[in-house]
Amino acid sequence: MASNDKPNARARATPTPASRRGMARPHLAFGYGRHVCIAQWLARAELQVALATLFTRLPGLRLAGPVEEAVEFAPPTKDIGITKMKVVW
Ligand code: HEM
Repeated sequence: MASNDKPNARARATPTPASRRGMARPHLAFGYGRHVCIAQWLARAELQVALATLFTRLPGLRLAGPVEEAVEFAPPTKDIGITKMKVVW
């Protein structure tokens, strides 16, 4: 995932569509402006299929504890966000 380490771009984060209010927040996961991710719509479609398939096959999938213990993150200046996620199902 993106590191979102461009403070000047944060104020212009992708607005949440009205239909998604309460489900998602403005974000910079795909960057912004001149170098915004050229394949973001492909990535979104792939994620929708992958996550729908995952939760259909493993309906009990959940974190193996509190997020502070189950999830490890890379330093915020790195491109990769989550480095480890312990789950059970
Ligand atoms: C969840 C998946 C993805 C995320 C979170 C993501 C995120 C990003 C971000 C944050 C940038 C902007 C980098 C910057 O500002 O310097 C970017 C650029 C880019 N991404 Fe992605 N990306 C994803 C998937 C993909 C895929 C699947 C492809 C290609 C098949 C792709 C191709 C590109 C390209 C070519 C750029 C450079 C665009 C430019 O500089 O004009 N991305 N991506």
